Amino acid sequence: MKRSIITSVLLLAPVFALASGGGSLPLEEADIDLADKESLQRGAEYFVDHCMGCHSLKYMRYNRMGEDLGLDEVQVRQNFIFDKETKPGDPMVSTMRPEDGEKWFGTAIPDLTLVTRWRSPDWVFTYLKSFYVDESRPYGVNNAVFPDVGMPHVLANHQGLQKAVYAEAEGEHHGPLQGFEPIKSDSLSPEEYDRMVHDLLVQSDSLSAKEYDRIVRDLLVQSDSLSAEEYDRIVRDLSVQSDSLSAEEYHRMLRDLLVQSDSLSAEEYDRMLRDLWVHLLAKKYDRMVRDLTNFLTYAGEPVKLERRQLGIYVLLFLGVLFVLAYLLKKEYWKDVH
Ligand code: HEC
Repeated sequence: MKRSIITSVLLLAPVFALASGGGSLPLEEADIDLADKESLQRGAEYFVDHCMGCHSLKYMRYNRMGEDLGLDEVQVRQNFIFDKETKPGDPMVSTMRPEDGEKWFGTAIPDLTLVTRWRSPDWVFTYLKSFYVDESRPYGVNNAVFPDVGMPHVLANHQGLQKAVYAEAEGEHHGPLQGFEPIKSDSLSPEEYDRMVHDLLVQSDSLSAKEYDRIVRDLLVQSDSLSAEEYDRIVRDLSVQSDSLSAEEYHRMLRDLLVQSDSLSAEEYDRMLRDLWVHLLAKKYDRMVRDLTNFLTYAGEPVKLERRQLGIYVLLFLGVLFVLAYLLKKEYWKDVH
């Protein structure tokens, strides 16, 4: 009896380890949506561009994926197949040979077709967001939900690097991991600053002057630099114009106005802007990683897309059947009453 209890506890242990993600951070919700075809398409492109150098999806064929995601063969060939030998009917296999993978990364590179099923979508989402700088590792990064992972942070130039934040020290060791903090250099050169402003305003995926205004206002008010009323007074005239201004023009004028009004110094404004940039970058990265997770979830169970459709047909069928059965019952019981 005792032995069987011990055995069952041991058998369950990996389940608990998996459920907790193996790390000390709770998993973030991936909030995936398989009905969002555009997200699935973006995810597929990210996968081919950033992951397929190492990972395969060996149970998924290019043309099947194209069909499911609403892409025709020309699009599949153009956007997903980069060498002449590969045909649309081939499985999505990485060109990296398994023995090379083992040699370079010290471990077999897993096929990712089923990864969202043996882990979970939330796990994969959190994993891709949880790389942090750790100089003791071969690639200079570690991962909070997959400690000592052999994978480099391949999306580092989309996310930026982050460092781990730990709870209060417990004796010699630091406390458990609590979260991350982006690593940002406080000393941007003028060129870097200009590039950052440009990226922020022009490339941050359609930030309008109005949105920029709203975000800056929130930031200033939150940081107690100025009250909402003061802000509104200073930029009253600007807001009227904001429809006709580009976000970049708006930024320049707003900065001048705030500095002139002595509400905050140019440095303070720039620091705030940098925080804003970090914030927007994080939002953009979230979307990218969600698209990837969405796509991998689809790849793990392509029939899920069909099943939803099938479910609707089944319900319709049952509805019709119910009506027929009801009419039949009425017919039978007519003579009894
Ligand atoms: C340079 C090669 C390389 C690239 C590119 C790469 N990975 Fe990895 N990945 C690895 C290796 C190696 C491992 C195995 C790590 C281990 O077992 O320690 C891994 C593991 C993983 C795992 C964990 C699988 C498990 O065992 O649970 C996931 C998820 C993953 N990668 C996703 C991705 C995604 C998504 C991308 C693209 C954004 C990507 N990888 C790009 C090398 C790579």
